[in-house]
Amino acid sequence: MTKTIYILNGPNLNLLGKRQPEIYGHDTLEDVAKNCAALGAEFGLETDLHQSNFEGGIVELIHEAREKAAGIIINPGAYTHTSVAILDALNTFEGPVFEVHISNVHKRESFRHHSYVSLRADGVMAGFGVQGYELALRRMAVLLG
Ligand code: DQA
Repeated sequence: MTKTIYILNGPNLNLLGKRQPEIYGHDTLEDVAKNCAALGAEFGLETDLHQSNFEGGIVELIHEAREKAAGIIINPGAYTHTSVAILDALNTFEGPVFEVHISNVHKRESFRHHSYVSLRADGVMAGFGVQGYELALRRMAVLLG
């Protein structure tokens, strides 16, 4: 059976491509979905990308992933730096979890340097632009292959 990877995105990432393009670039979340779907297909992985502006929405998507996904790639946006609830939800998931940040959070304001999600993530990509999602997916394919 084809394995599914959930690609989860937090607040404001629906505006990717329009929001601060000097930091986050011009690609949209739809571009990310298309590129990941094409790359996943090369590895026999299905990708399912979701976005929510709500903390609880992301928690519920992680619960859904428990039933439907073999791995999670997550960019929690600003909730990265604040959300124990998202960390707790990820701790209920048994497969690999990769954290992605489009920008290099370590080069930015100090409040972006701490991530609750990193306490669970098996790997972190930061500062590789939207390509970070694809790099995480490549690693996912190795781990789940
Ligand atoms: C982000 C970095 C976060 O600090 C920020 O709040 C975001 C996006 C990134 O992809 O670089 O919304 O996760």
